[in-house]
Amino acid sequence: TWTTATFVEESIREIRGVVGDKRVLLALSGGVDSSTLAFLLYRAIGEQLTCMFIDQGFMRKGEPERLLKLFKEQFHIPVEYVNARDRFLAQLNGIADPEEKRRRIGHEFISVFEEESKRLGPFDYLAQGTLYPDVIESADTNVDPKTGERVAVKIKSHHNVGGLPKDLRFKLVEPLRKLFKDEVRKVGRSIGLPEEIVRRHPFPGPGLAIRIIGEVTAERLNILRDADLVVRQEINRHEVYHDLWQAFAVLLPVRSVGVMGDKRTYAYPIVLRLITSEDGMTADWARVPYDLLEIISNRIVNEVKGVNRVVYDITSKPPGTIEWE
Ligand code: XMP
Repeated sequence: TWTTATFVEESIREIRGVVGDKRVLLALSGGVDSSTLAFLLYRAIGEQLTCMFIDQGFMRKGEPERLLKLFKEQFHIPVEYVNARDRFLAQLNGIADPEEKRRRIGHEFISVFEEESKRLGPFDYLAQGTLYPDVIESADTNVDPKTGERVAVKIKSHHNVGGLPKDLRFKLVEPLRKLFKDEVRKVGRSIGLPEEIVRRHPFPGPGLAIRIIGEVTAERLNILRDADLVVRQEINRHEVYHDLWQAFAVLLPVRSVGVMGDKRTYAYPIVLRLITSEDGMTADWARVPYDLLEIISNRIVNEVKGVNRVVYDITSKPPGTIEWE
């Protein structure tokens, strides 16, 4: 029978067998897959592993810091932190179109990945958090037609433009390829990943950048990050996190009139998106208590400068999508 303990033991043995004395690169994303992967590889091959974390600047408030702290203090796994915030932001200067944002973020990700892997390398292998459903869905994309070997053609970074340049074709090591997501969660839990990572809601690769409608600027990122933090805190405090598929804030580019104290305000609205779903393909807006909506609304308007109104999105998917972009 399958247990997490035997899985961990066997994959460590398998990784050692495959990798030998070669070097492996792994891109951490902050999710359960890449975190579990990093743990297994580090236990298997230690310093032959390089974990790289590219900070695009679009994660939630405090997330990059928490991830680095976890790896440093709890796992004692060294992480190469790449602060690419300014580069990504510069790419989005003046860009409002959702697909163009995604395209630019994806390309920038590949550029940074390429530069950093050359700087830190050379590496023979790329570790990927490929899961069983990915293997069946994209059966052949990573197989070299000549040798039949699995090689990295794309990086699993949740950016659709993940094509790697030809001179960067690593061999793949994919210890999670036989697991389903719920099995990865079990393994993750068994090795001591915090619930916060194990049961983290899905978070899009382009992150907060596609939750800022219109142009992404440093100022608007700060507004959204602060509003999003309030949402996360209250959803957790009221213990509805695990009932929801996703819960987040969206920042709109229009402004509306409000009044605070005896002053007229003219500021941005925040949209609350609280979603229930089984698989993300269809979704419904969550029937959370009005009291919770009220608390979130009051806190955001009072605490987040630049916001004077909160609206609740009551559109299901279809016809809406979960994200606004
Ligand atoms: P939609 O908005 O299409 O979202 O209903 C369905 C699920 O996909 C996530 N999503 C993305 N994930 N890169 C990602 O990695 C993206 O560009 C992207 N766009 C949407 C979304 O958060 C939801 O879970």
